[in-house]
Amino acid sequence: MEGRIARELISVAFKQLEYSYAPYSHYKVGAALLTAENQIYTGCNIENAAYTPSNCAERTAIFKAVSEGITHFKAICIVGGTEGRVTDYAPPCGVCRQVMMEFCNPETFEVILAINQEKYQTFRLKELYPMGFQLSHLQNERR
Ligand code: THU
Repeated sequence: MEGRIARELISVAFKQLEYSYAPYSHYKVGAALLTAENQIYTGCNIENAAYTPSNCAERTAIFKAVSEGITHFKAICIVGGTEGRVTDYAPPCGVCRQVMMEFCNPETFEVILAINQEKYQTFRLKELYPMGFQLSHLQNERR
C-alpha cells in the first residue's frame, strides 16, 4: 500500500469519528474501506439501547458497499478511541474479521490500524485471522 493512499484512508477514517453513534460505550470507531476500483466507502459504529443490535464501523462500511453491488476490496483503515480520542490502535473484532473473510482475499487484503497520519501499522487479513472459515470450506465437504 502506497503511503499516500494509506494516509488518505486514515484521514477519511478519522472524519467518520464525528458520525459514530456510541452513547453507551463512548468508544467511537471510524472506518474507510478501499474498493478494488479505488472508491472509498465509509463506516462508523452504531450502538443501540438493546446493545446486541449494535454494528461495528468496519461492518457498516462493508455492508454499505455490498448493498450497492461492490464486493471486491483492497484495504480498510480503522481508527477508534474513547470519546473519539485516538491514543491506541483499534483492532477489528472477531465478527468483523469473519465478515472481511467473506469478501476479501486474506492473502492480500490490508488492515490499516492508525493512531495518526504518521503512526500506523498494516496487517494482512490472514495475519489477523489465520485459518478463517470461508465459502471454500462449505464446498469441500465430504459426501
Ligand atoms: N467496535 C467497532 O466499531 N469495531 C470493532 O471492531 C470493535 C468494536 C465498536 C462496537 C461498539 O460500538 C464499541 O466499539 C465498543 O465495543
